[in-house]
Amino acid sequence: MGLANAPDRFGLVSRALHWGMAALILGNLGLGLALMQVPPGLSTLWLYGLHKSLGFTALVLVLVRLVWHRLSPPPRPLPAPRPWQDRLARATHAALYALMVAVPLAGWSAASASGIDTVLFGRLTLPAIAPVSVAWEDWAALAHRWLTRALMAVLALHLAGVAARLAAGDGTFRRMLTGRPAGG
Ligand code: HEM
Ligand code: HEM
Repeated sequence: MGLANAPDRFGLVSRALHWGMAALILGNLGLGLALMQVPPGLSTLWLYGLHKSLGFTALVLVLVRLVWHRLSPPPRPLPAPRPWQDRLARATHAALYALMVAVPLAGWSAASASGIDTVLFGRLTLPAIAPVSVAWEDWAALAHRWLTRALMAVLALHLAGVAARLAAGDGTFRRMLTGRPAGG
């Protein structure tokens, strides 16, 4: 079983990280948006706790993924029909990585500035990374909101690229799903 990546295929570790994190991040985007529809109160506190716990897990996993990709470099995107499409695919992946780090960090700052402890899965209290301040909380919550909007936009681009590769039948989707090299 190929755990590591190779120049032409994704290994099991990278594929598990990609799909596990995709589910976590898409789920937490939905949960974050749903949170904004319910009035904050004692009865919804646990939902905030769940959102923060899942978001922090995504932050830990993206750091694991970045380290893993230093140790075991992933394959480059398959060549696209036009050079700008290759550049766009690489830029999209870089933006996704930047946002996977920035979104939870902004959320963590907003949570710290509120003065309420961030307790992971009801067990582990995270240290505060921002001073307790209403102005800071407002600013960080706004940053968190706009970074999530940027994430949604870049994700739409990512999914459009995946759909285009699926339509072209070049094996991009299959190699992320099954690990088999394109054409193999
Ligand atoms: C993958 C990670 C995350 C995603 C995708 C995400 C997504 C979102 C979204 C979409 C919202 C609604 C924003 C709005 O419409 O105004 C939100 C709100 C919020 N998130 Fe996150 N979040 C993540 C991680 C975190 C983390 C790690 C924390 C804290 C430790 C956090 C704390 C919050 C808080 C406190 C709010 C409410 C902000 C407010 O009251 O305006 N989030 N999140
Ligand atoms: C259901 C939704 C998704 C589908 C169908 C999908 C599909 C794919 C596919 C097929 C690839 C392989 C590209 C290649 O072979 O070069 C890929 C790569 C990638 N995807 Fe997604 N993806 C999804 C969600 C996400 C999400 C939510 C994120 C992060 C926010 C993400 C981040 C990435 C990144 C960074 C890469 C580059 C390879 C890597 O570093 O692992 N994807 N995706």
